[in-house]
Amino acid sequence: MRAYIRTRYGGAERLQLVELPKPEPKEDEVLIKVKAVSINPLDWHIMRGTPYFIRFITGVFGPKNKQFGADFAGEIAGVGNNIHDYQVGDRVFGAIPKEQSGAYADYAVTKVKSITKIGGQASDVNAAAMPVAGLTALQGLRDFCQVKQGNKVLINGASGGVGTYAVQIAKWLGAEVTGVCSTKNLELVTSIGADHVIDYTKEDFSRGTHKYDVIYEAVGNCDVTSMKRVLSRNGRVVMIGFGGIGKMMKYSMQSKSASKDGQVFGSITAKVKTEDLSTLEELLSSGIIKSVIDSEHPFEDLPKAIAYQEKGHARGKVIVKVNS
Ligand SMILES: NC(=O)c1ccc[n+]([C@@H]2O[C@H](COP(=O)([O-])OP(=O)(O)OC[C@H]3O[C@@H](n4cnc5c(N)ncnc54)[C@H](OP(=O)(O)O)[C@@H]3O)[C@@H](O)[C@H]2O)c1
Repeated sequence: MRAYIRTRYGGAERLQLVELPKPEPKEDEVLIKVKAVSINPLDWHIMRGTPYFIRFITGVFGPKNKQFGADFAGEIAGVGNNIHDYQVGDRVFGAIPKEQSGAYADYAVTKVKSITKIGGQASDVNAAAMPVAGLTALQGLRDFCQVKQGNKVLINGASGGVGTYAVQIAKWLGAEVTGVCSTKNLELVTSIGADHVIDYTKEDFSRGTHKYDVIYEAVGNCDVTSMKRVLSRNGRVVMIGFGGIGKMMKYSMQSKSASKDGQVFGSITAKVKTEDLSTLEELLSSGIIKSVIDSEHPFEDLPKAIAYQEKGHARGKVIVKVNS
């Protein structure tokens, strides 16, 4: 099978497309024929080994796992002896944990807790777009921020991979949504349901007069003090994108002391769970949310697609078609 590997940390130019043996699923794993994958900032962080502390997980002297890639949609091509809920031919999507085989290949193996079936008519491209970004939006808004009907929710970074799902999930939860994006994305963010949009090139939301019950920070350029100014009395802030190690440390130090008198400042790391993937699949298949696709690339251009995503200006998700 074809697979992308890297033997050292570095940019996308270091990736090599090689032939590897098709992996065999263990007793509690499934083999997936990958149809489409999507790219997350996590992928190029793992590819580069940055910020450096992640090397304690991914390998100090070089990548422990030569393959990588998380989000995928595909078809079950084989099952381990202990797997009874999936059969060859089932359409599935999910996110492969970094210690497993990696989605940037014709075939991948993973445990079933990181996948779910595509029950409805969602395309491979639309399903592959969703796992990490959709889970980050769902868990941040529904679970951490406990968004309720009528809450005023601000999404900073509303046009990105996570932000485009966050706008739609906040609407589904009944919120009044303000999306922060640049001029070229105002129309896109309005088209996916935002009630209000703020152009960050012209206006700083943290200097405005509106108060928000929830601030979903997917850019990492806002500090605690500025967000406190526009947060309602019992408001919650969830930081999901940190914009660098320095900002991350500052935020975690400040957020502890700022979380008082009913206000909560926190952060989350998305957890890949079948249950939440199924919720996302139902929302997608029923048309309540859609995947916003920035661009689709052939498998041979995966390094270019990663380099493009890394620039930080994608409008929704960047997709690579593998066997579709
Ligand atoms: N905690 C977790 O579990 C988790 C999971 C996934 C992602 N993340 C993190 O979350 C962040 C967002 O991820 P993503 O996948 O959405 O990234 P992405 O797709 O690369 O997001 C890029 C978007 O951010 C917008 N943007 C850039 N600067 C902005 C600003 N100052 N104000 C508002 N929008 C701005 C860009 O719009 P313009 O082109 O208009 O600038 C672009 O649409 C990343 O830092 C990522 O590492 C965390």
